[in-house]
Parts: sequence; structure tokens; C-alpha cells
Amino acid sequence: MASLTIRKLDDAVKAYLRLRSAQNRRSVEEEVRVILRDLIEGHEVPLTAFAAPPAPAPTSQRASAVPEASVTLIIGGGIAAYKSLDLIRRLKERRVEVRCVLTKAAQQFVTPLAVSALSHERVYTDLFDPQSEFDAGHIRLARDCDLIVVAPATADLMAKMANGHADDLASAILLATNRKVLLAPAMNPLMWSNAATRRNVAQLQRDGVVLIGPNSGEMAEAGEAGVGRMSEAIEIAAAAERLLRPPVPRPLAGKRVLITAGPTHEPIDPVRYIANRSSGKQGFAIAAAARAAGAEVVLVSGPVDLDDPQDVTVKHVESARDMLDQVQAALPADIAIFAAAVADWRVANAGEQKLKKTAAGMPPLELVENPDILATISKLTDKRPPLVIGFAAETEHLIDNAKSKLARKGCDWIVANDVSPATGVMGGDSNTVHLISRKDGEMAVDSWPVMTKEQVAIELVAHIAKSVTGGVTGKSAETAS
Ligand SMILES: Cc1cc2nc3c(=O)[nH]c(=O)nc-3n(C[C@H](O)[C@H](O)[C@H](O)COP(=O)(O)O)c2cc1C
Repeated sequence: MASLTIRKLDDAVKAYLRLRSAQNRRSVEEEVRVILRDLIEGHEVPLTAFAAPPAPAPTSQRASAVPEASVTLIIGGGIAAYKSLDLIRRLKERRVEVRCVLTKAAQQFVTPLAVSALSHERVYTDLFDPQSEFDAGHIRLARDCDLIVVAPATADLMAKMANGHADDLASAILLATNRKVLLAPAMNPLMWSNAATRRNVAQLQRDGVVLIGPNSGEMAEAGEAGVGRMSEAIEIAAAAERLLRPPVPRPLAGKRVLITAGPTHEPIDPVRYIANRSSGKQGFAIAAAARAAGAEVVLVSGPVDLDDPQDVTVKHVESARDMLDQVQAALPADIAIFAAAVADWRVANAGEQKLKKTAAGMPPLELVENPDILATISKLTDKRPPLVIGFAAETEHLIDNAKSKLARKGCDWIVANDVSPATGVMGGDSNTVHLISRKDGEMAVDSWPVMTKEQVAIELVAHIAKSVTGGVTGKSAETAS
């Protein structure tokens, strides 16, 4: 069954749905369901009865207004409930859509009207609400979100959670959810230190629930102080953001990675050239993966039909000699990965004008060897990158040929792949590779299963990150062993 994510709809459609749902005092999801049900049952859907949706905001404003995540915020019955009003604002500032549930006790401290006005959404208070339960609304509140936040988390709510109660909307949602739960406890210090609360907190932590606070300080009750104050709204919002958008690991931050990709074109004359079937996809995927891992990436690419990867410096070249020039200009680098299929030979006597058919027959094409980029960089004495990785594209004796290439070229690792036509690797989207490296004076072969070129790239970057962060890179590893 397909599912529909409201926040991914066009802004104009969302604005229209919001207007309708506000007029009908329903949530946006309920409004969509009602519209669909009415259409299926053949009722007229009075689309024109509503005011036209407001014109979409300029793109610059829209980008920051589009929610990127959604939270179900459960407000428990404690004095600190007033801070949850600020929490709604703080979450919305972070482009988080907030749907609120108030316990019966919470409504003694804040009104559903205030919560609704701040969240711009209908507020949920009742497990047995026919309007939202016609399609199990409590299950939707439990799962149609990225995170559940309970603030304030009362001693009572935590006791219910720890023991699996579900006798009101808040506890039923907490029992039915498969989302992460963040609790911001708030209570009198004696309630917090009570053995029952201690047991419940320990149980909840074992269950994987995340807690923020409580802080210590003065209580609302005159003259009382200690641990039990709810964390400030800004602290809770930051904790929610960490769970919603965990920091991406960037193991190659601060490293400069040089990558070559694609074929080279070796001119025969101004209009003809010698080429090969390399698409550049593998090298481009490695550049994107290295960038995602935080590296500064320079990609030297032969002629390919691919978009430049984002935030990568791309140098476009034609011939092997151009490629070597750009590679040398890009040094120094911490890691160099030579994934390009560089032509071994070029035409020594390339015509300055287009070669013509003559009565003398075919023009003789004299081939000379191109510079060997991998060997040249591997054998540098001053600017040699600490980790140099070559690619070996072979059509026979893959491992043996790749091992002898590793020895001959002086690089640290070789990624060997079988490019015989039957594999479809050249120009295709998947690759089966073997990573050959030196270990204790021997060559070690690590064979990977068939993967997409993106997966190969991610795996290779993970190996590089492990090697680099472990302080063991090609040459130094060799000399150490
Ligand atoms: C004025 C007042 C303040 C309260 N403050 C808290 C509090 O900060 N933390 C707490 O756990 N309970 C507090 N309680 C008790 C809860 O309101 C009570 O346990 C209630 O049943 C909690 O319901 P709930 O967990 O469904 O929201 C307070 C009660 C009153 C009358």
C-alpha cells in the first residue's frame, strides 16, 4: 500500500490542505483521508468553496519554511508544561513539524487552544475521539512522525511507559510507537529520587528511550531546590535535532583526495581519436563518496557523459598527457586513486589536418607509449601521496595480472576488476572487485561481492578511512611491517 507524505507535497497544495483542515478542525492527514473517502463514495468535494491558497512564498523564504522532519510532542501534566509552548516554537524554527498531544492533566496547565495556535495543527487529547479514531488515529500519531518527544515527562507518564500501560492517548501512543522517544522529565526532586521513579527510569533507558535532563535548580514549589527541573526548551530542541539529524561521520575530514576517472581520448587528427569504453561512473562515484566522507576532492576526468559531483573540484581533460599534467598540478594529496582508463598508447604522428583517403591507401599510424600516471605518481620521492591506489581492469588472469601490476607500478593498493564484455562492467552500473594490498610482505586479496559502483565507492572509502584514521597508510604500512 502506498503512503503519502504530506510535507513532500507542493507548497500550494499543502497551503490549500492546511486551510481546509483548519476550517474543518481536522488534522491535515485526516483532511486528505476525508477528501479521498468523499471522492470514492461519489460525494462532491467542494474545492471552490474555499478561499484560494495564498501565493507561494519566494523560493528563498520557502526553502527555510518547508518542514524536514516531524515530531509528535506529548505534553504531560506538570508545571513545566508552559515551557513546552516555547519548545513548539524552537522545533518549528528547526523546520520540524509538530503535532501535539495533551494529557488530561496537561490541560490543567496549558490550553489546547494555545498549543494549537503555536503548532498550527489540531491538538489531540482523547483516545476515544471518533473524529480521529475512525482510522486508528493514535497509531498514526505514534508512527507518522520521525520522533516522539515527551515534555514534561511526568513521573506518572514514565511509570506508565515503563510498565506498558495504554489507558489514555499519550500512553497508548508511547506503547504503539516504533519511533525513537525522547523524554524531558520534570518533577519535584523527591519524586525524581524516589525508588519507584529510579526503577522506571532505569527500565526506560534499558528499553532504548533517550532522556534529556532533568536539570538541578529551584522548583516551582516555594523554597524547594534540587534535581527535577525540566531542561530548557532550547536544550530539548537541540537533543531532538541530534536524534532527527544525527551528525554524519566524516572520517576523511581534513584529507585531500585526488581521483582520476573516465577514458582518455588520444587524437589521430583534429576530428578522430582513439578511446576506450570507460564511462567514468566508478571514479565519479568514488569522488562523491570521498566528498561525503568529508574529504577535499579533486577529480581529474577524461571525456564522460556525467554531471560533476557536488562540491568536488573537477578538471576536465582529453588525453593521457593532459591528465598527468592536471594530476601533478593537484599534488600534494593525502590519497590518490587512479580509476581512469588511461590509453596506453597515442598516435605519434597525429595529423594536424583531417587525414584524407588517398590512392596510397590507409595512412600508417605510428603508436608511442603514453606516460604511466600511476607509476609516475607512485614513484615520486617528494610529493608522493601517502596512499596511492590503482585500478586494474583486466579481461583475463585478473588476480595474477593485478598482483604483478601492484608490484610493477609501486602503488599501495590495486582495485582489480574483470572488464570482459560478458561482465558488463564497462559502462554498466555494477562492479565485482578484488582489493589487493600488501600485508606483512605478502599480497592480500580481499574479494567483494557484486555491488553497484556507488556501493564499491562507499566500501573503498570506508577501507581508506579505516586505514588513514588507524594511522596505517600504504607506504608507511609497508615500511612498518
Ligand atoms: C500544581 C501541580 C503541579 C504538578 N507538577 C508535576 C510535575 O512537575 N511533575 C510530575 O511528574 N507531576 C506533577 N504533578 C502531578 C501530576 O499532574 C499528576 O501525577 C498527573 O496524574 C499526571 O498526569 P499525566 O502524567 O497523565 O500528565 C503536579 C500536580 C499539580 C497539582
